[in-house]
Formats: sequence, C-alpha cells, structure tokens
Amino acid sequence: MIDDTGPRRLLVRDLEQLATTAGTDAPLRGPALGEVDVVADAYILCEDGRIVGAGPMRRLGETLEGDHAGIEELDGRGLCAVPGLVDCHTHACFSGDRVTEFELRAAGASYEELHAAGGGILATVEATRAAGEEGLADAVRLHRGWMRRAGTTTFEAKSGYGLDRETELASLRAIRDAGGSPTWLGAHAVPPEFDDADEYLDFALAEVLPEAARIAVAADVFVETGAFGVEQARRYLEACRDAGLSLRMHGDQFTELGAIPLAIELGVRSVDHLEATREDGVRALGSSEVAAVLLPASALYLDRPMPPGRALVDAGAVVAVATDFNPGSAFCESLPLVNSLAVTQLHLTPAEVLSACTVNAAHVLGGSGEIGRIAPGYAADLLLLNAPDWRYLSYHLGGPVVATVIEAGVVTSPVPDAPDEPLGRR
Ligand code: NIG
Ligand code: FE
Repeated sequence: MIDDTGPRRLLVRDLEQLATTAGTDAPLRGPALGEVDVVADAYILCEDGRIVGAGPMRRLGETLEGDHAGIEELDGRGLCAVPGLVDCHTHACFSGDRVTEFELRAAGASYEELHAAGGGILATVEATRAAGEEGLADAVRLHRGWMRRAGTTTFEAKSGYGLDRETELASLRAIRDAGGSPTWLGAHAVPPEFDDADEYLDFALAEVLPEAARIAVAADVFVETGAFGVEQARRYLEACRDAGLSLRMHGDQFTELGAIPLAIELGVRSVDHLEATREDGVRALGSSEVAAVLLPASALYLDRPMPPGRALVDAGAVVAVATDFNPGSAFCESLPLVNSLAVTQLHLTPAEVLSACTVNAAHVLGGSGEIGRIAPGYAADLLLLNAPDWRYLSYHLGGPVVATVIEAGVVTSPVPDAPDEPLGRR
C-alpha cells in the first residue's frame, strides 16, 4: 500500500548494473564523451519525479536513513539501468505513409528523384494538411507511444509537413501537447502554391513565424539542392533568432552546400545529418560549439554513405545521435537500434553513443543538467534493460532490450490499456 500523504517515492533495487555518463559537464566532447560510470549491484531512489540517490546497494541505507515508509519498490535483478534516452531530431508530426515510395526506391528510384517529381516530402505535406488538428494530435500521440516503448523519454519533433499557416501551427501545438519539444521546420520544402523558395519564405516569415515563435523552442531549415540555399537559410535563421528561437539546421545530407560555415557563423545549436561532410567540415565542427547530430538510421534507410562519426569525435566535435524518425528517409523510432548503428557503422564506442543520445542530446534541446544522467537532482527518467550488461543497448541489434520505461519516477511502459497511448491508427 502506497502512502499518498508523503512524497512519491520509487526505489529500483538490486540492479545488475547502473550505467551513466560520468561527471556533471555538458556538452561532452573528446575522451569525456566515452567516460561512463558503471556501478554493479546498484539502486536508484526517486522522489517526486527526481533522482535523490543512486549507487551501490550497500550504501542504500545512507540515503534512506531507515525510512522505508511509502516507498514503491521495483526489483532490478537481472536488469541494467541507463538514463532515459533523448531523441533530439524527429519529424514525428506527420500523417499518412510513404510505403509505395519505399518500394519504388527498392526498385531503383532515388530519394532526390522522388522529391523532384513532387513525391517525397510534398506527398507527406498533402496527407498532413488533410489530417486536421485532431488527426495531427492523434498522430503525434501514436508516434510518441512508439518512441516511449523503444526507450525515448524526451523527444523533439519538427513541423515541416504543413508549410501553410494553419497546419504548421497545428503541428507545433500537437507536438507540445504530446510533451515534445517543438521545432518549427518552416523551411523544409517549397510547397506547390509558391513559385520559388524566396516567395515562400516571404510568406512563412511574415505570416507564420510570429505565432510559431510563441509555441516552438527552436527553428530548423533544410539546406539542400531543391530545398533551401545558404543565403535563404541565413535569412530564415536570422529572422527566427530575432524572434527568440534557438537554431538548428539540416546540412550536408546529400550535398556540401556550405551549411557548416553558416552554422558556425550564426552559432546555431546543431547541424544535423552530415552524410556528405568532408575533412574541412569535420575539422571546422571539431573546434566549434555547434553540435553535430548524426542520424545513421536515415543513411541506412536511404542506402547513403554514413556520416563521419568517428572522425567527428576524434576531431573533438560535440556529437549527438538521433533517429530522424519520419515517413520517408527514416521510418524508425528506435534509439536502441540507432545505438547499434552508431557503434557498427559510425565506429563510436557503446559509451560514446550512450552519452551522445543522453547528455549531448539533452544539450541540443537546452535541457543540460535536467535530463540525461542518473544522478541526484536529475529528472527520474530511466530505462531498465532486459540484459546482464548495459552495453546490450547497442549490442542486441533490434532486440527486445527495453524492459521498463520510467518517466519522472513513474513506470510509463509497459502499461496495459494506457488511454492516451493508442497502439495503432484509427
Ligand atoms: O531529415 N531531409 C529532410 N527532411 C527529412 C526527411 C523528410 C522526409 O523524407 O519526409 C530528413 O531526412
Ligand atoms: Fe530530419
């Protein structure tokens, strides 16, 4: 029986291991990225949504001081705890799918060809515009449930499939209301009702930005041939910065157009993708404050070269990893799968990847010191892994590694019949 008059307390006890990035710094770069503290036979004590103690079982008495009243206990035997995962780059607000395009790509059509022919992103724009405000809210809740079951406890999601005032704002509200960090990707593609990118930006900055800036935390732009050029990105980002938004960029996905120099000049929070980044770009990011967000599921899904992950870490860049979850280039919401790809394809160590999708991803979202570590004072967002060693997070490729998800000290997955978490589309 839980005593509901005192603080709400959760004790996870007898864990096989607890693993969390060492220290208190953020963001992390160089050797510090790979420093993970591992405690065997461990406990974690949470109170009112925060972690109040974590360490070896033999020291539990010091934290509890004999006071066991009203504590809910979870048996951690055979399980390993890591921080809840932070997905700092998703496009989770979309309707419809691109399964036919997926099949066409298998037959040889390229992502860029489909995009140029009015498919790709614009096909999802059409479906998303048709979904209506409620349809979008349902879609984000559905996708949020998938992410949660895969171990994501904090997520960012971008608009960018509306590209008109009503749908962009509805997208941002749906993301916010589902508990996500909303990013206005107002410059994702040029919608068909505009003749060119400049004319579309005139509209977006005058008609959408003022209200988008009230809902969103950040702004993002897709710098690419067929999307937005560097000068258009500069105009968009400067206006968004003036409106109080933090800045993000999609850069060097297919073509090195100059996204990295612009990112550094403007001091954006992150430049994401980087599959086409060569040595100069790696070096420039290595000595800058701009985070490099790597999306190996997207490179895999489109059968493109992987971004230079190892070189970026060795150059000293602030590296984060994320899913890029979207219906076209990465229909994948699983950060554990992305952990496996980052180890096997980007050649990061399991420890570097853990830091990259916890502490550094939290930094990208402006949540450093609040989320991403198992340490007193941090939010009690935890994963219990069904594994004898925490490195199964990347080792078990596509396996059922996430046993339990805890958010703010409450078990959120698995929860049978969760009313706000639909399992499928209506
Ligand atoms: O990050 N590259 C631009 N945007 C997304 C893909 C969006 C889509 O294909 O629907 C990305 O990969
Ligand atoms: Fe993306």
